Amino acid sequence: MFPFHLWPLTAHFYRGRLYLRHLDLADVATELGTPLYLYDATTIEHAIAAYRRGLRAWPGEARLAYAAKAWFTLAMAQFLDRRRLGLEVVSEGELAIAEAAGFPPESIHVHGNNKSPALLRRALELGVGAIVLDNLDELDRLEVLAAAQGLTTSQAIWLRLNPDLVAPTHPYRQTGHYGAKFGLSPDEALTAAGRIARHPDLKLVGVHVHIGSQIFDLEPILAACERLIELATALRQRGHVIRFLSPGGGLGQPYHPDDPRFDLVQAVERVARHCAEVWERQNGRIEPPTLVLEPGRSLIARAGVALYTVGSVRRLADGSRIVAVDGSMADNIRPALYGARYTACLPARPLDAASGPCRIVGPLCESGDVLLPAVALPDVRPGDILAVPVSGAYQLSMASNYNAALAPAVYWLEDDHLLLIQRRQRPADLLQRDLPLPP
Ligand code: LLP
Repeated sequence: MFPFHLWPLTAHFYRGRLYLRHLDLADVATELGTPLYLYDATTIEHAIAAYRRGLRAWPGEARLAYAAKAWFTLAMAQFLDRRRLGLEVVSEGELAIAEAAGFPPESIHVHGNNKSPALLRRALELGVGAIVLDNLDELDRLEVLAAAQGLTTSQAIWLRLNPDLVAPTHPYRQTGHYGAKFGLSPDEALTAAGRIARHPDLKLVGVHVHIGSQIFDLEPILAACERLIELATALRQRGHVIRFLSPGGGLGQPYHPDDPRFDLVQAVERVARHCAEVWERQNGRIEPPTLVLEPGRSLIARAGVALYTVGSVRRLADGSRIVAVDGSMADNIRPALYGARYTACLPARPLDAASGPCRIVGPLCESGDVLLPAVALPDVRPGDILAVPVSGAYQLSMASNYNAALAPAVYWLEDDHLLLIQRRQRPADLLQRDLPLPP
């Protein structure tokens, strides 16, 4: 069975070849050059709709804010704004891209465990929707900067809670355990709230928690929601008005045919319903705050397909093959960094019988440059196009120029239009920041 649930919604077969809408994937990759990333807008729309449906289980207002770190460009920022999503950014760079796209600052909230003074200053200047306070040292800086800035209205602040919970995911993606670098303990949160209340240019309006990413078992997320609402309740009882409640992002995304299936609508509904129950239990008929979810991966991972050209095939004595393609750990570090597992196919003959396992490697100068350690493929020849689905999140946003590898071109498929939204990097781009030594 071909795992269509891992491919964009527009994927289908026509005459034995794999298409997205009218695009023959193998042909388009050959024509436009590889490595190439395609994003299917319909698949993103569908994920947004799934979130919005699930959020109906929350009795108050609900908002969706995209976590820019998953993948962010000018076009993506415009797309999100047109669909009235909010945005979560963590750096001056992400904020600058949002600004360039004309993204409304009031729909942006700013995260980060060590926000730079430049980021804080810019966020205050723009009057972003919220700065999410991560620690008390940051509050020291924020108090000074806000006072110095001569703000016309006070800056909205959320508190990020460290709930002391371990998320069931790769350790690099756990963010909510004791000892993690993120968030305030409940005591620190209460201290911060008191200080914010005394500052004329800051106002506390929300609380936030995010325990990690790529989570399929919702129980720890529900537990985090309970601790978050406990904090909101404690703050309310001390006279603070909490208008925003954000249980972060982190919902899981299947990448491999063996991964568990995950129903996004049901998962979002479960989180929203649980929050509603806990809110009511603790706060009775007090009006519920706005619930803000901030997903990254589950909105865009499935929309992205990476396309590579095979350059060489080495056959080993055990019958397996090493297939070298023109993409690498420079455009997808996830297998090397987290042991992330993917699947792949030859889009020109996706249904041909497999003739044994292939290790898909890139051209970089280390043996860790592996995209797929083992995938069953039919006969593969140099010049073939290889397609890797679920490539939309945390690949290009984590890309590097190791070995001076050039970043791939990115195309956007919306309705029947295929648009270039990020051109392929050129060697001249790499030289742009470099300055020569004097003669
Ligand atoms: N909110 C906060 C505060 C976050 O730190 C993150 C992700 C998100 C939301 C979005 O989480 P998502 O819905 O995308 O799971 N590089 C890793 C993932 C790191 C996630 C970082 N924070 C990977 O490739 O698996």
